[in-house]
Amino acid sequence: MLKNKEIILGVTGGIAAYKTVELLRELSKRGANVHVVMTQNAQRFITPLTFQTLSGNPVLCDMFQLLEDSKIGHVALADSADLMVIAPATANILGKIANGIADDFVTTMVMATKVPVLFAPSMNVNMWESDIVQRNVERLKAHRYEFMDPAEGDLACGSVGKGRMADIEEIIEKIEDIFTTKDLTGQHVLITAGPTLEPIDPVRYITNRSTGRMGFALAKMARRRGAEVTLITGPHYLSVPRRDIPQIVVNDAREMHDAVAGCFDDCQIVIMAAAVADFRPQDVLEEKITKRKNGSYCLEMEKNPDILKELGEKKRNHILVGFAAETSELMEHAEVKLQEKKLDLIVANDVTQPGAGFGVDTNRVKILDAFGKVRTVPLLSKDEVAHIILDHVVKLVKKKEKDRPWPRNW
Ligand code: CTP
Repeated sequence: MLKNKEIILGVTGGIAAYKTVELLRELSKRGANVHVVMTQNAQRFITPLTFQTLSGNPVLCDMFQLLEDSKIGHVALADSADLMVIAPATANILGKIANGIADDFVTTMVMATKVPVLFAPSMNVNMWESDIVQRNVERLKAHRYEFMDPAEGDLACGSVGKGRMADIEEIIEKIEDIFTTKDLTGQHVLITAGPTLEPIDPVRYITNRSTGRMGFALAKMARRRGAEVTLITGPHYLSVPRRDIPQIVVNDAREMHDAVAGCFDDCQIVIMAAAVADFRPQDVLEEKITKRKNGSYCLEMEKNPDILKELGEKKRNHILVGFAAETSELMEHAEVKLQEKKLDLIVANDVTQPGAGFGVDTNRVKILDAFGKVRTVPLLSKDEVAHIILDHVVKLVKKKEKDRPWPRNW
């Protein structure tokens, strides 16, 4: 997503400037070409040489510095960039820009550029909470400048509170957000993820190898593409995909069934990436099973509800997407599930393939639609696979909108 993007990284004089080095490395790692511009005060915290070495580009600090071809530095760069990020952004820089002051390279560049500008503020908690800073932030937001909310925690000044520069991961997430077409705006997407845990006794349960990664990638990417996302997940060990995705954690298939049923009417798209257990122990024992009392043990099982099949029966204008986790006859099984569950799309996943299926960061799938079309997706990261699945969903949304009959009163 960031490949070949030209990003201007403005560094101002805050202690968090050392973290900006990490931000630069992460941006470069993702293929962006980063141009660093610094204020005088920033150079007291970190040297231009560090940024120059890591970015491979000259660092601009002087307003009157000319680029090689004698173009005025700030104008040439401001014109050619795709995005400008100010990290850390001090109270001083916010105040200057909010009030139209352009007296150094960074502020001049902000005034000169027409591309999106993202601020990652960093300052003492009292400064951040002060009316003046908040007024400046509101004023800048009103001018469509983008902001990372500062994080809470120990601050360099010794106090505790809101004011730390946002985590690098979150800044990268926001930058990728800015570059993403919001083609799912207006859609509420319900995504299920992870395994279910079917209890046997107070200490044991039956589950499967799903970790939730594919569902989490779908949730993150759907949100990035502008959808309202609700994530219903079985127990997992992953970090939350994004702070702005409400997450409902359930334990067993029946809990997942109820949670999904509770959200179904409010959403337009359902993607069932969860590996729901088909069976559960018939009786959950109140006491732990002990080998002292039992020479052998036979577990009586009963069927869980098929959540997706039920949704297929009651769907109205919904788009339903299922997954088929298979160990043999991938396409045959996937096709049967597509039809039996009345799905719009099914993602067929041969979990025996290296790099595909449970517990890995990659996947290799085939996407089948209800019109008989098949798309083979090679081994890619789960984030990339999620995007491709969502591309298909967007096509279906557009098709549904086109096919929708005109309202009678038109
Ligand atoms: N699914 C569901 N409820 C279940 C079982 C599965 O909603 N009780 C959903 C899964 O989330 C997935 C799709 O149905 O999107 C297919 O799941 P899969 O486990 O591949 O197949 P099953 O329907 O369980 O069929 P089988 O066990 O015969 O493979």
